Amino acid sequence: MKYSEYSVVVIGSGAAGLYAALKTAQQIKLPEGVLLISKSSLGISNSRYAQGGIVGVVHQNPDDNIDLHIKDTLKAGAGLSNYKITEEISSASDAVINDLITNGVEFDRDENGNLTFTLEAAHSMRRILHSGGDATGKGITEGLIRAVKSNSAIHTLEKAMAVELLISSDKECKGVIIYNKQTEEHEIVYSSAVVIATGGTGQVYKYTTNPSGATGDGIALAYEAGAVIEDMEFIQFHPTALALSPDSQNRFLISEAVRGEGAKLINAKGEQFMSKYNDKLELAPRDVVTRAIFSEMAEEKSNNVYLDASLIGEEKILKRFPTITKKCMECGIDITKSPIPVAPAAHYTMGGIKAKVNGTTSIKGLYAIGEAACTELHGANRLASNSLLECVVCAYQLADYLSFTNLDTPKTIDEGIKKMIDVYSRSITGEEYDTTSLKSNLKNIMWENVGIIRTEDSLLKAQKEVEKQQKDFKRRRKCLNQREYEYRNMLTVASLIIKSALERKESRGAHCRSDYKQTNEIAKHSELSRDVQGVTIC
Ligand code: FAD
Ligand code: SIN
Repeated sequence: MKYSEYSVVVIGSGAAGLYAALKTAQQIKLPEGVLLISKSSLGISNSRYAQGGIVGVVHQNPDDNIDLHIKDTLKAGAGLSNYKITEEISSASDAVINDLITNGVEFDRDENGNLTFTLEAAHSMRRILHSGGDATGKGITEGLIRAVKSNSAIHTLEKAMAVELLISSDKECKGVIIYNKQTEEHEIVYSSAVVIATGGTGQVYKYTTNPSGATGDGIALAYEAGAVIEDMEFIQFHPTALALSPDSQNRFLISEAVRGEGAKLINAKGEQFMSKYNDKLELAPRDVVTRAIFSEMAEEKSNNVYLDASLIGEEKILKRFPTITKKCMECGIDITKSPIPVAPAAHYTMGGIKAKVNGTTSIKGLYAIGEAACTELHGANRLASNSLLECVVCAYQLADYLSFTNLDTPKTIDEGIKKMIDVYSRSITGEEYDTTSLKSNLKNIMWENVGIIRTEDSLLKAQKEVEKQQKDFKRRRKCLNQREYEYRNMLTVASLIIKSALERKESRGAHCRSDYKQTNEIAKHSELSRDVQGVTIC
């Protein structure tokens, strides 16, 4: 098999991966360079589609401070956001945002050149920076791609998928096996620093705001490699995704910032309903608004409610939300005049590979950042626009950490790794699985049984069905192509979400069980690891 060696390998080209590759290459003199691999074209990711913005606790905003941001984050996190981690990430915000700007990322400014801030749910003030109005992710990723492309220490490999981590007999990560979609060959990349920045798991659900690549690959790979995985039951369902019909499954997001600027939710009768659910109305925490909409939809037996953005006023709508206006217009909805049909959709994975802010995980040589990681910043319910902040702060801290780490490429290949590689040099037999219908079945099971409201019965039903699908899919390691690998990984992460959800016998943040409505006095994280049977709540 073809092989290569790099000082650092970054898997994923969203905000976390792009910035990690850039900062590592800028900060460290790397003998073998950085390899940035992405199963998509460079930058195609959840990050690319981010709308509302990125939290910026920056000195240009005199009203804001770190304590206020920590308070809001901890409140939304429903007892599971870690104070120290939140403080670490919030304190780094100013330096990191300024570094992004230095590296060519542009944020919206007023006519005097000052940064402008928007408001989103559960923030006590305007502290969210945005770019291109409602195209923040595009602004950040395009800026970073330009910087990455102009850095000669970074090698990029697009349309290449990480499929297995190389773990030595003494449990250190020494590299990764990739499937190169362009050559249809498997290749080995050796490195003593492998960074997972592969994003979330939204695609395991029927309705999602996430693009097709969000299949939880990095989390599945890390789990198979023996890493500790944390808080997988906490899936955030965004309240307002464009719901044109029950058939539209990959749903375009209608940013929370639209509600932040004054839009109101109404039901089919045209009545505002949020006052029945929370005194913060449309700006209540995400899980609260999602359940309110879900309940209205159930009561009305409808597929959606509506978001009336016309209240914001035409001029402001066109200036602040050009992407949303355009998309809705293409679908025949003039949002300056007509309400937008919206419904909740799976949006964000709060859990993931247990990692510190500097990306270190339970496996030496394996790092995780961004949505694939769980740093305990978001707890049970992520505060809007904290995700992009976490991506860039963790990438920045990772580069700093790696600058003090021995990054020599592995000198010897042990027997354990040789055996792993052997699997990929053999050819496999059998027809390609019909992954389109298998994935669709899995997504339905997850939506119906492991969605916004869960019960023991629904979770056990899902568990049984997913186990059956796992048993029927005979390929544990080498697969035929990307579609099969993604399906295998989706099954793994679905089973992790279900296991953790079954174990958490309470309702907290985004995890809502109608059979355990109480929130326990003591908030505990859940942990899973392949080497330890079951889920530990600790
Ligand atoms: P991603 O951006 O998802 O990138 C993952 C990358 O990994 C992709 O390039 C993918 O192709 C690659 N990849 C995946 N698996 C493999 C593999 N096996 N091998 C190789 N490559 C792989 N958050 C905010 O803070 N503010 C917002 O305004 C906001 N708006 C959002 C709007 C939408 C529509 C969505 C979906 C999310 C939004 N979020 C927002 C959440 C936020 O965008 C994401 O959590 C964040 O961008 C994740 O970044 P990431 O770099 O960790 O992963
Ligand atoms: C949004 O714009 O509503 C998404 C923000 C986020 O997910 O943080």
